[in-house]
Amino acid sequence: MDAKIKEIVSLIKDSNKVVVLTGAGISTESGIPDFRSPETGLWEKIDPMEALSTAVLMNRPEKFYKQGFQLLLGMTDAKPNLTHEILSKMQDDGYISTIVTQNIDNLHQKAGSKNVLEVHGHIRDGYCIKCGKKMPIDHMNEKIKKKEIPPRCEGCNGVVRPSVVMFGDALPPCFDQAWKEVEKCDLLMVMGTSLEVAPVSHLAQISKKIVIINIGKTAYDKKAEVIVNHKASEVLNKIYKELKGRN
Ligand code: APR
Repeated sequence: MDAKIKEIVSLIKDSNKVVVLTGAGISTESGIPDFRSPETGLWEKIDPMEALSTAVLMNRPEKFYKQGFQLLLGMTDAKPNLTHEILSKMQDDGYISTIVTQNIDNLHQKAGSKNVLEVHGHIRDGYCIKCGKKMPIDHMNEKIKKKEIPPRCEGCNGVVRPSVVMFGDALPPCFDQAWKEVEKCDLLMVMGTSLEVAPVSHLAQISKKIVIINIGKTAYDKKAEVIVNHKASEVLNKIYKELKGRN
């Protein structure tokens, strides 16, 4: 692995702009299961269309708030792990600019990262589908515990829904910004994602160069300059030590 680490470090040092794309795999070490890992992935046990789709949210809110919403709530106490922390340090040191994440768990921000583009939304709050007024997720949960399902806006009584991009939703405006950032970057570091879900996976296609740090295979492995099929925290730790000349 050391030769690959050195190759990744020289690609980073030769780049003016490095963007990072993360997926659920970097949060497994924080205790949040990913979606497609064999045996442990969430979608091995739950039908995503049943759990986190706008169809279920709108037509069967009781079911949505009993299952899908509880998945979101379960992430709120998670803590960032070494991968999130090192990415934040690499941003502070100027090695990477933007972090594009498919994760909704807020762990990049908890680790101090800035410039985080949450292209699948986040769990920090919900919003009223009528007037757009935001409501913190804990407040939503208070209402749900009092059997107010779906939770209602305190301004206009409209339905309040999570700020997470669910199956059936369009992507948020920050995806357009992510697209532009990746088009401009010299290197896209992809980690903890199977790159199975479009259109975010297309970012790996439009980037000049990509490196992939991922336990499993991905649909874009053939395009990568370097692939490290290993735990992200161990790989990032080695990369950071090499960057700081501490190896
Ligand atoms: N280090 C590196 N890679 C890991 C680790 C780890 N510690 N743990 C898991 N992985 C890898 C798995 O091998 C897998 O290939 O992370 C990848 C996670 O892939 P998915 O479970 O498909 O997650 P992700 O790519 O983020 O899914 C994209 O799908 O269901 C939707 O909206 C959901 O944002 C999600 C999107």
